[in-house]
Amino acid sequence: MNENETPFPMELTEYVTNLFSPREDTFRLITEAAHAAGMPYGWEISPDVGKLFQMFCAMIGAKRVVEFGTFAGHSAIYFARALPADGKVISIEINPEYAAFARRQIETAGVADKVEVRLRPALDAMIDIKEEIDAGADRFDVIFLDTEKAYYPRFLEWAPSVLRPGGMLLADNVLRSPSWKGQTLLDQESTDPKIFAIREFNERLAAHPDFVSTIVPIRAGVAAAVYRPR
Ligand SMILES: C[S@@+](CC[C@H](N)C(=O)[O-])C[C@H]1O[C@@H](n2cnc3c(N)ncnc32)[C@H](O)[C@@H]1O
Repeated sequence: MNENETPFPMELTEYVTNLFSPREDTFRLITEAAHAAGMPYGWEISPDVGKLFQMFCAMIGAKRVVEFGTFAGHSAIYFARALPADGKVISIEINPEYAAFARRQIETAGVADKVEVRLRPALDAMIDIKEEIDAGADRFDVIFLDTEKAYYPRFLEWAPSVLRPGGMLLADNVLRSPSWKGQTLLDQESTDPKIFAIREFNERLAAHPDFVSTIVPIRAGVAAAVYRPR
């Protein structure tokens, strides 16, 4: 293995993060408030992932985003900031306390006019959204999956029915997660249904004829796929 094939040392990764996505007070304060409110640690996307998503939004001229898993509001705010004034983020959350917390943070961040937090289980929300598209609503530019991992294969089946051609499907935790107790996707001994579901998702995405896709191996692993129907 030559030097260009070894993993980057931490200091080079930190150099990139510090230069291109330094931690902003807005997000630091939300994280601190979430911890003070007894919400779990480390569920939110990190600044480098937020920046990557903002770059994707700029690349494809995104105006409409739907994300599954609001938690404290970090990813919704990253997306909202990347959209034009008439852009919209629909953010789906099952936990009423998290939804209420996120709405307050979104208001404080000044993007409440662009973000709708829907208190709804993901599977029901998928049905609602498909019905809205069928009734004439615009298709989405971006779908971001960051909720129940067992649903990921189902989300992949659903995505083409609500995504516009050239739109993107993004998904977090497609390689590992802080809550998997050190397991990764490659643990052959694992009997964890989440890991089976993510493996199925990754394999189906990689082979999907209507998506051009890869996994960006930062943080927990981010799947990024452009919808290009045949
Ligand atoms: C990893 S966190 C989302 C983090 C957020 N996207 C961010 O980066 O700031 C996952 C969220 O999904 C929510 N969730 C879990 N199961 C759900 C379901 N079936 N429907 C909707 N939301 C769900 C959890 O309550 C949690 O807030």
